[in-house]
Amino acid sequence: MKLNENYFNVSDSYLFSAIAGKVAAYQAAHPQKKVLRLGIGDVTLPLAPAVVSALRAASEEMGKSETFRGYGPEQGYLFLKSAIAGYYKERGIRVDDGEIFVSDGAKSDLGNILDIFGRDNTVLIPDPVYPVYVDTNVMAGRKILYMNASRENGFLPMPDYSVDADLIYLCSPNNPTGAAYSVRQLQQWVDYANAKGAVILYDAAYECFVSEDGLARSVFCAEGAKTCAVEFCSLSKMAGFTGTRCGWTVVPERLAQGKANKMWLRRQTTKFNGVPYIVQRAAEAVFSPEGRRQTAENVDYYMNNARVIAQALEELGIWFTGGKNSPYIWLECPHGMDSWQFFDYLLENAQVVGTPGAGFGVNGEGYFRLTAFGSKETTREAVARIKDLLSR
Ligand code: MLT
Repeated sequence: MKLNENYFNVSDSYLFSAIAGKVAAYQAAHPQKKVLRLGIGDVTLPLAPAVVSALRAASEEMGKSETFRGYGPEQGYLFLKSAIAGYYKERGIRVDDGEIFVSDGAKSDLGNILDIFGRDNTVLIPDPVYPVYVDTNVMAGRKILYMNASRENGFLPMPDYSVDADLIYLCSPNNPTGAAYSVRQLQQWVDYANAKGAVILYDAAYECFVSEDGLARSVFCAEGAKTCAVEFCSLSKMAGFTGTRCGWTVVPERLAQGKANKMWLRRQTTKFNGVPYIVQRAAEAVFSPEGRRQTAENVDYYMNNARVIAQALEELGIWFTGGKNSPYIWLECPHGMDSWQFFDYLLENAQVVGTPGAGFGVNGEGYFRLTAFGSKETTREAVARIKDLLSR
């Protein structure tokens, strides 16, 4: 027996598990203190009423022999794929049902997609970024090149033709920095990928937070993306599905001369048995007119939280970005602290949890991420505590 030794090259625990462990230890030592969590991007609002009634109705169907369903199509029921295709169509993007694969969320698919790509591909990953891209490639033993995201480039690195890469990860709006590519900038990435014969793995999990014209909400708004990109999207943040689990991946028919779509279908039919019927019905309800209205209200609620955090940072004179087209606010750690020092300082002195920028890559050092996904009350209280602590 041989272990996959690549696992020895990733840190012992996943960033958000490590943070949860630290917070649990603090809480156990200080049970009387009320800890406020603005760390992991986990939603707090309940599911929309339209979603709950779809869940109820689907559960009733599953309890009657005439309407009971067993295994469904691994790539998702047509009713949901059509609803997703309709969502793209509204934005002028044509995606065929056969290109949509329903899954239990973007994180799983972002890791699983690597099954269809050879191990000797070179991967290009922005730094800082969502740690799943790096960890999954380290686990597979792939060569990783990093592109610097920094204050100078607005945390939006652009293609460099002197760099040769096969798989390119882009996340827009970005986790953790909140920076979002414009359609024009994305077009440059698509042109680069097509010129290099590379594939862009595009994480669009936060697209519903984009409100500014001219910013991209899908890689497929760029011309030529169907020959060079896979898109991952999720209902986690858009509709509060972090605990319900549903997302989708678009693998275009034309990608890799038609091979990638067939390979992903083969992979999913072999290793995945599909998302539960009741969850798919709930997901379908997100795209109904009431579902769209109700979930948009929730997005507005979170964006109000983002404004509250942003305003406090402005008042404190702390440099930050994000929070406009994204639920994440990315700030410079005050008083020259490094990002884990600031994490401890906030936890110990204000009992507020955020995410240290260093957890997202070396360029995240010195920065810190706060999420707008808390409740209005938690956000206001956390902001008041931060203001109190940092203006002392
Ligand atoms: C985050 O906090 O970055 C996200 O919630 C993690 C995730 O979506 O998996």
